[in-house]
Amino acid sequence: MKWNVVLFLGLAASTLVFAIRSGTSGGVSERGRVVYDQYCQRCHGSDGSGGKGPYDIRTREVWKSEPRDLILVLAFGASGRTVYGQPGIRLGMPPAPYSDEDLAAVAMYAMQNIGKRTVKITAEEVSDVKAEHLTRMRDQRAK
Ligand code: HEC
Repeated sequence: MKWNVVLFLGLAASTLVFAIRSGTSGGVSERGRVVYDQYCQRCHGSDGSGGKGPYDIRTREVWKSEPRDLILVLAFGASGRTVYGQPGIRLGMPPAPYSDEDLAAVAMYAMQNIGKRTVKITAEEVSDVKAEHLTRMRDQRAK
């Protein structure tokens, strides 16, 4: 076998292994689960119930609405609508410090795991939603 053929086969094989390892089950990647477990779980529990924390998000509207709304929450954070402990104390969610790829992956994972919905979200979509939101905020400030 010629070297270039061997190289090609090697590349093809590693691409295949990568595709399998990133484990697409219904479009939801392993990466999404890893990011969720590393970052989101501490506040929302593994199932969105809040676990040991107070942030039960299982019945939020965001799971029923278009993926855009979930992307906005992840990229820009959320203001707390629930009053915790004493009146006037509301806790917000900070923007998730991840790349567009990772945000897309964790959004799909959360949609599947908590929202029980399979949706396809790409890094490009995350990037578009972010850009559109920032433009809107800038335009509002300019008024
Ligand atoms: C530091 C704690 C913290 C982390 C980490 C965190 N969140 Fe949150 N999250 C919150 C709080 C606080 C709220 C607001 C709770 C409320 O509105 O009552 C919230 C709200 C939400 C909501 C509901 C927003 C709405 O408008 O109803 C979703 C969905 C959500 N988080 C998903 C995630 C995902 C997915 C991750 C991981 C990428 C994550 N969160 C990481 C604290 C956190």
